[in-house]
Amino acid sequence: MLDIKNAVKVFEQGTMIEHTALDHLSLHLDAGEFVTIVGSNGAGKSTLFNAICGSFFLNEGSIHLDGLNLTLRPEHQRAKHIGRVFQDPMRGTAPNMTIEENLSLAHSRSTARALSFAPSRKEKVLFRDRLAEFGMQLEDRMKTKVGLLSGGQRQVVTLLMCTIVTPKLLLLDEHTAALDPATAQKVMDITKQIVQENHLTTMMITHNMSSALTTGTRTLMMDSGRILFDISGETRSRMTVDDLLTMYSNSTNQTFDNDRMLLANTK
Ligand SMILES: Nc1ncnc2c1ncn2[C@@H]1O[C@H](COP(=O)(O)OP(=O)(O)OP(=O)(O)O)[C@@H](O)[C@H]1O
Ligand SMILES: [Mg+2]
Repeated sequence: MLDIKNAVKVFEQGTMIEHTALDHLSLHLDAGEFVTIVGSNGAGKSTLFNAICGSFFLNEGSIHLDGLNLTLRPEHQRAKHIGRVFQDPMRGTAPNMTIEENLSLAHSRSTARALSFAPSRKEKVLFRDRLAEFGMQLEDRMKTKVGLLSGGQRQVVTLLMCTIVTPKLLLLDEHTAALDPATAQKVMDITKQIVQENHLTTMMITHNMSSALTTGTRTLMMDSGRILFDISGETRSRMTVDDLLTMYSNSTNQTFDNDRMLLANTK
């Protein structure tokens, strides 16, 4: 499904601040896999997502998604196949447009007709039904401007926008990190529901290690632009957050350094 081979990305090449953010990274995901990703600050997690989405081209290596060679495709062509949710609830939706207009824009990407934010009657029914599944009463607020919603509500609208047309790949970049714990939990539950219902191939970067080990079926630990550990099966189901941190420090001779992660795990 997703095949990344020997990906290398060097920032500021040839300067004093040259930095290898992806270092010969290879990764294969089967269709329907739900992989969580953890790692210290600057490990290259978001850079990996940027590489997949085409924010830049790789210096070396290749990326294939569902048989398509994405390596040299521009970002806008990849966007059709990839849904992405960021940490910042302000990204991903247009604040001055209503919930139904935002959803309509996302939905019209799949249809032959031109991009449109005026929902048809059929679309309104579809959006209402989908929103109602989440138990946040958003179905009663279809004409509310998204800018007036709370961060958690906006993340749910963004999630639905990214998946209303089934993407080949869903990328979640700490999409609950800016939310309070109860809202973060609700958004995680809705995320799992959407992934499960649509059998989505998903990668989720998370600052919450315990959620990383219990969500999906496989966990990657990244460090210095590489995948340090790729954990699944019984090893993963037996693993605790402490085990993971110990494995990290044994293999890098460093203590784990991620501000958001350590905060989340001491709560
Ligand atoms: N556009 C860019 N130009 C220059 N350097 C960059 C760029 N994007 C990322 N980097 C650098 O690449 C490294 C990896 O950054 P990245 O954002 O992928 O880390 P991360 O694992 O997502 O960390 P965090 O947990 O802090 O979000 C960092 O050293 C970062 O400063
Ligand atoms: Mg990041």
